[in-house]
Amino acid sequence: MVPPTLAAPGGIAARLPPIGEAHDAALEGLFARASLADPEGPDHPKRVGQIAAILADAVGLPPDLQELLARAAALHDIGKMSLPEGVLGHRHVLDPEARRQMERHTVLGAGILAHVRAPWMQLAAVIALMHHERWDGSGYPVGLAGEDIPLAARLVAVADVYDALRSDRPYKDAQDHGQAMARLLEGDGRIGPAQFDPAVLDALRRREAEIAAVER
Ligand SMILES: [Fe+2]
Ligand SMILES: [Fe+2]
Repeated sequence: MVPPTLAAPGGIAARLPPIGEAHDAALEGLFARASLADPEGPDHPKRVGQIAAILADAVGLPPDLQELLARAAALHDIGKMSLPEGVLGHRHVLDPEARRQMERHTVLGAGILAHVRAPWMQLAAVIALMHHERWDGSGYPVGLAGEDIPLAARLVAVADVYDALRSDRPYKDAQDHGQAMARLLEGDGRIGPAQFDPAVLDALRRREAEIAAVER
């Protein structure tokens, strides 16, 4: 018997949800798995995607790239799934060995995502690898600086730190929008504006009302 083609009426394709829905359902599954291990939970990655898209709009990227970035950015911490148990969920500052292990979530995430050839997953791999690189060269895993860091990763770096500051963690309370903005734009000894692309910080400033209103 000839198997029905994917496109035939009543074939597999007819029973599949539209691609957007299928994609989102697949992501939900990945988020659910990732959030089992990650105390940040499933909402942080989604908000990072939303905020990165607003910043992308502010620096002049077209809507199709904003959408691509929102989806890709939501996978930035997926490598945390592959970390050994016990590295995540610390209630205190990590010791150097635990910190070194934690930093591997960048390389591990890229290693997962780079296997998928779809362009948005390739972008997600780049973001996973480089979202902790810093404009001043003090980041990881490589220590790239300035425009050697891909723009997508520079956008996600700001979105990620902003959202992390606004979120409750096992070791700290959430801050309000004004406190988070002050720490990003003025620095506090641990986080400082030198680590971010000045053009992206400027975008954050210009679009702060919209970013503050992202649902949480
Ligand atoms: Fe991360
Ligand atoms: Fe994150």
